[in-house]
Amino acid sequence: MDEKDLGSDLAKVLIPEDRLQAKVRELAAQIDADYADKDLLLVGVLKGAAMVMADLARALHSPARMDWMAVSSYGSGTKSSGVVRILKDLDTDISGRHVLIVEDIIDSGLTLSWLASNLRSRGPASLEICALLRKPEAVRTEIECRYLGFDIPNEFVVGYGLDYDEKYRNLPFVGTLAPHVYGGTTG
Ligand code: XMP
Ligand code: MG
Repeated sequence: MDEKDLGSDLAKVLIPEDRLQAKVRELAAQIDADYADKDLLLVGVLKGAAMVMADLARALHSPARMDWMAVSSYGSGTKSSGVVRILKDLDTDISGRHVLIVEDIIDSGLTLSWLASNLRSRGPASLEICALLRKPEAVRTEIECRYLGFDIPNEFVVGYGLDYDEKYRNLPFVGTLAPHVYGGTTG
């Protein structure tokens, strides 16, 4: 699916495919350098991080383990509340492992800070965060994101793993939706 097939659903392309891919390769090079002498375990957060996880993992030169978690954060509408439920836990015991959480987006940061402290309590050798996108509100959180793709404006974005009503995850770029798609209100 590319830009042309979207018709009028898309308001604009925020980050085109080539910039996403170049950034993911750049992050992979940093990660390769930082974990050169360590066994790395990538933990992807479903479903949004599926694309960045797949591309990042393939861009790494060093071997890495991969595992997945799925969490749901309760909240009203599009705001997360920080109350998080694990829908799918890791298959792996992470104690003593060098863990890198791979996330699609940090908005309020509540989901990720809950997840990081949950994983930290399991005794990993190290725990770092890689997020493709970060929204302005994230500056108010304490989250230290070691590997960041892009700071973006406070708009609802879709594509490259991110959804609206479970759609648009398969877009190879990140874009914003036309108001008619989500009913004309922002959120
Ligand atoms: P918090 O606020 O806890 O939320 O950092 C992070 C989660 O909220 C979702 N999210 C989005 N999903 N487009 C999306 O498709 C967006 O613009 C967006 N902003 C936040 C996402 O699931 C993320 O993990
Ligand atoms: Mg979502």
